[in-house]
Amino acid sequence: MSTFNIAVLPGDGIGPEVMEQAIKVIRVIEEKTGNSFMLHEAKIGGCAIDAAGEPLPSQTLELCKKCDAVMLGAVGGPKWDTLPGNKRPEAGLLAIRAGLGLFANLRPAVIYDALKDASPLKQEIISGGVDIMVVRELTGGMYFGERGRVKTCDKGEAAFDTETYSELEVERIARLGFETAMKRSRKLMSVDKANVLESSRLWREVVIKLSAEYPEVELSHMYVDNAAMQLVRNPRQFDVIVTTNMFGDILSDEASMITGSIGMLPSASLGSGKAGLYEPIHGSAPDIAGQNKANPIATILSAAMMMRYSLGMEDAAKDIEAAVARVLEKGYRTGDIASFGCQVVGTAEMGTLICEEIK
Ligand code: IPM
Ligand code: MG
Repeated sequence: MSTFNIAVLPGDGIGPEVMEQAIKVIRVIEEKTGNSFMLHEAKIGGCAIDAAGEPLPSQTLELCKKCDAVMLGAVGGPKWDTLPGNKRPEAGLLAIRAGLGLFANLRPAVIYDALKDASPLKQEIISGGVDIMVVRELTGGMYFGERGRVKTCDKGEAAFDTETYSELEVERIARLGFETAMKRSRKLMSVDKANVLESSRLWREVVIKLSAEYPEVELSHMYVDNAAMQLVRNPRQFDVIVTTNMFGDILSDEASMITGSIGMLPSASLGSGKAGLYEPIHGSAPDIAGQNKANPIATILSAAMMMRYSLGMEDAAKDIEAAVARVLEKGYRTGDIASFGCQVVGTAEMGTLICEEIK
């Protein structure tokens, strides 16, 4: 039996209420497996700005560095929207990813059989199922490049953000893309904008060079605008997608909606070691915060990813995922995925139903 230390960062908006459900699930797994989970709560985002004056207090980062894994809810809200860029809640999220060296972000978009009606795409497009893994670069590119404002000669202002990728940054994320493809259907789609961007041309060169080490993987390339279109035209053509930080941010939101709701998609952020950060891909949804309406499934599935990738508990991960599928099959839905004839439940009830199913 093992003891795992887990940093829990609920954050803002719906973060705390969806995290509460994931913790319920973690406690059930604890009981079932006999492993123990020591949970250490800390602040990030807007609540950290209010309490400590900065979106990622150093105590939070230090705590996370000592833990086996980090569970994160969501950050941000209108209260902090007018702060300067580097003081905003979102800056805390970028800083923790960089501070922990988490350069890779896995975002699986899977359609559950029970949720096919919730997808905005026509049944004939998704009826064979959709199972896409977006491998997003997470600590480089435009979100971390130099940015700023300069005065223009007409006494106005101009703003700039820069996209920079080094060969090393591309190679390590591409390698994870190939490795992920090897464990799945051995198809890898690299998404870039190499018809315009120099950083994308380097990206493509590095990916092609690395492909020599993975002869079994069928590699293809797509421009990001075309990929955005192809995702809704025929999502079944995709299996593993590897792409930059910004393109992955955008395409993973799109892929999530194909599955019915952004409230369903978990993510794992990984670096070179086993420790990782697990968070739903949705944001803090301040409009529904505190109303017991949010879908906790993305956060619960993030806990499953944590079991799989950081704690070596594949069985527990499968247990959680199967429980989610069964609860959906029984017809329970949160508001975001509700359809005719379903039983609509709140955040806490959904968490409890999944726990019961795991037991
Ligand atoms: C996400 C979010 C974040 C990102 C924001 C909140 C900084 O959109 O995790 O996808 O862009 O990475
Ligand atoms: Mg996003």
